[in-house]
Amino acid sequence: MIRYAKPADHAAITEVVAAAFGQPDEARLVDRLRADGDVLFELVAEEAERIVGHILFSRLWADRYELIAALAPVAVEPGRQNDGLGSALVRAGLESAREFGAHGVIVLGHPAYYPRFGFSAETARTVKAPYAGSPAFMALALEPGVFDAPMTVAYPDAFGG
Ligand SMILES: CC(C)(COP(=O)(O)OP(=O)(O)OC[C@H]1O[C@@H](n2cnc3c(N)ncnc32)[C@H](O)[C@@H]1OP(=O)(O)O)[C@@H](O)C(=O)NCCC(=O)NCCS
Repeated sequence: MIRYAKPADHAAITEVVAAAFGQPDEARLVDRLRADGDVLFELVAEEAERIVGHILFSRLWADRYELIAALAPVAVEPGRQNDGLGSALVRAGLESAREFGAHGVIVLGHPAYYPRFGFSAETARTVKAPYAGSPAFMALALEPGVFDAPMTVAYPDAFGG
């Protein structure tokens, strides 16, 4: 089951994120985004009342659109990886991002994983941002033409360290 995260889930989310990445950095990023009020929404994958996956979308500041979202991080508990949970979280997350009014989504992630959801580095080539230019920097337009003209985006402070 995929649902929106509640404050009561935070401890379990920290565990899943830290276990998935094998280090605390991404869980700290999640905490900092929450503390700074930069989270757009978080979803969790729940099985037998246990949280086994998590995805977070934050807001970017774009010069041409009201809301461009950043997808990061996404994490699935190590014992439950490669069973479709990550894909289900990304797909549900993109649907929610649309409902939240996001015009587009940007991700800095594995170039082999995100194209299956429609993300591409080619689409992101018009975006000016600190991480732009890398094959890992990918964008997905939720409306036609969102990334056709140059756009500058600023990331929440949490991504800066
Ligand atoms: C990446 C992650 C969220 C994917 O979730 P998942 O439930 O394991 O993935 P799914 O079952 O939906 O999809 C499986 C596919 O993802 C690929 N995949 C899994 N982990 C991956 C990773 N770290 N990098 C790139 N691809 C990965 C698998 O190779 C598989 O590809 P295939 O379909 O071409 O064979 C999960 O493996 C995870 O938490 N990894 C550790 C944390 C991490 O790297 N997060 C993402 C940062 S961009």
